[in-house]
Formats: sequence, C-alpha cells, structure tokens
Amino acid sequence: MSGPLLLAIESSCDETGIAIVEGGRMIRANVVASQVALHAPSGGIVPEVAARAHLRWIVPTLEEAWADAGATWNDIDGIAVTYGPGLAGSLLVGINFAKALAWVHDKPLIGVNHLEGHVYAAWLVDPGEDAATRPEPEFPLIALVVSGGHTFIAEMRDHLSYRLLGTTVDDAAGEAFDKVGRLLGLGYPGGPAIQKAAEGATRRDTVFPRAWMGDTYDLSFSGLKTAARRIVDAARLEEGLSPDDKETALSEATTAELAWGFQDSVVDVLASKTARAAREIGARSIVLGGGVAANAVLRDRLRGEAATLGVPLIVPRPALCTDNGAMIGAAGARRYRVGERAGLELDARPSLPLALR
Ligand code: KG4
Ligand code: ZN
Repeated sequence: MSGPLLLAIESSCDETGIAIVEGGRMIRANVVASQVALHAPSGGIVPEVAARAHLRWIVPTLEEAWADAGATWNDIDGIAVTYGPGLAGSLLVGINFAKALAWVHDKPLIGVNHLEGHVYAAWLVDPGEDAATRPEPEFPLIALVVSGGHTFIAEMRDHLSYRLLGTTVDDAAGEAFDKVGRLLGLGYPGGPAIQKAAEGATRRDTVFPRAWMGDTYDLSFSGLKTAARRIVDAARLEEGLSPDDKETALSEATTAELAWGFQDSVVDVLASKTARAAREIGARSIVLGGGVAANAVLRDRLRGEAATLGVPLIVPRPALCTDNGAMIGAAGARRYRVGERAGLELDARPSLPLALR
C-alpha cells in the first residue's frame, strides 16, 4: 500500500503517542511520552492524573515527531486519532487536539479503535528497515491482543474485518500481572518485573491454576489472582512472615518461583487457546500485540506453537506492542484508504468494542 502520510495520535491510557506513518507501514516518527513513572507511586493509573499529563505532553510530543520525521503540514494527508476504548478524560485530550489540528490545517480526520491499532502494529516497519524483509501478515489470521486493559482472540479474514472469538470475562492479562506483581512486592508495572523475577527461578515446579473456560476461547484471570494471593500467603507463613506484614518481602528464591508459576499459567492458557484457534480457522499467520506481548516467555511459547502449525508468528518489537501512535497510523491508513472520515463531532467512546460477537 503506498501513501497516505498520516499524523497519528494516541492518548487512550497512560502514554501520549504521536507518530507520522507512511502507507500504513513505514514509521517516519514515533514519539511516546510515558507516564509509567508518574503512576508508579500509586501502583496504578489515576485517570485524572493521566488526563492532565496528556495535556502537558501532547504539544512537546508533536514537536518532537515533526523533528524526527523531517515533515511539515504540507506533506500530511490526514490525522488519525484513537477515539476508544480507554479513559474518557485521556481520550478527549487526543481527540480535541486532533480536531483542532484538522480544522486549522484543513486535513481529514480518521477515528481509530485502539484495539485495532494493537493488531495493526504487526504491519509496521521501522525507519531504515527494509520492508521486503518484514512480510505482511497473511489472511486469514488469528490475533491475540493482551494488554493492561484488554485481552482477546480475534479472527481476521481481511483488512478491518474482525470476528471476536474470545475475550476475558474479568481481568485483562496485564492487569493480572500488575496485581500479582504488587502481591509479590515487585512494584508497578508488574509484567516486566514478574518476567525478570521469574528468570531467577530454578525449581520451576510451582503450579498455579489455569481457567480453561470449557472449550470456548474466553479467558479468565480473576481466579488466578485469588489463587496467587493464597499461594503467596502460604509461602509467607512458611518463611515465618505474617501475610499482613507489608514491609518484609518473601525471599528472592521464593519470589522467583512464584513469579515463574504465575507467568507459566498465564502463558500456557494464552498460547494454547491461540494455537487452537489458529488450527481451527486454518490461519496463515498469527499476530501478537498489546503490552503483555512484550513478555519473552509468551513470545517464545507462541513462536513454538506457530512453528508446529507451520505459520509465521508476527510480533512487533516491544516498544510497538505497548501503546504508541504508530499503530494508530497503521490502522488509520486502512480506514483512510476505504474513504472513512470522521467529522468534528467525533467523541470519545470509552467502551468501544473491537467487534460485536
Ligand atoms: O498495551 P499497554 O501498554 O497498555 C494498555 O493498553 O493496557 O499494556 C500495559 C500492560 C501492563 O499491564 C504491563 O504490566 C504489561 O502490559 N507488560 C507486560 C510486560 N511488559 C508490559 N506483561 C508481561 N510481561 C512483560 N514483559
Ligand atoms: Zn493498549
């Protein structure tokens, strides 16, 4: 796909992302102002704080994107912006910024679903990278998107066409990582901390439960979180620590074993279900996206499953798996090409689904 050159804006959660993307694939600039450090002390995202931080960072982020791309308004064909799902206050900052720019510079506006953005990150090519060495995902494909707010398995038979096969019925996988990370005293965000702690595990025999949800593609992580609390409390008693004593951490060895056991359970369920879905629909590729896709164990396990099925696993580099503007530019380009345009009445849709089942 050649052209268009889109300015893309993402502000649905806790990252302010602005990118300039050519033809839905080539990244010309991709600047992300992360609020992770801002939210770390509270152990989670505070919506009010997030919205204010977007306001503070959105203009400097845009300025840096222009400088990186060496582009000007004359080159831009349209503005893509995330309009849901996400935090209302955060979404509104990006949407209103995009609308003002579209109006002032007389550019078309394209509304993009954040979840679709995570899937389309699989099409992105880094600056200086040869697009020919990065094949586009082939249809039909299975997409597994696992983030702090969302977890689903979807089938795509063509561009912009989704069939939702399964979704979490309670917590998102990343949310479970964050909560269990806190239980283990590993800080926020829990995902990368659990992965790192688990690398130090030597016994690797602690078994956490798996919620298989019958033969559906649905997922559930809240029972696992409750089980983790029980297992952590029991381990603390064994080490002579009170479950209520928040100051004293479990030994490093036990923390590593429990982190490993928890991660093994999440990865096992996600990878098994994704592989079964790919087999069932005769997928020609598997796409992995969302913040939890940065997890090395999940990537390795899915790569193995994909190899067994003889299909490629397409997984963006970690910085393109977490929230960013480039993925919105990739999805936005497809919508631009089919003539989709949003009006200045575009509003935030905090609960926007990827597709109805
Ligand atoms: O996609 P994302 O940046 O934001 C949302 O849209 O939610 O995902 C953030 C989530 C957090 O829950 C974080 O703990 C998780 O992704 N995460 C990981 C890893 N890196 C980030 N989870 C497991 N392993 C990782 N290496
Ligand atoms: Zn996301």
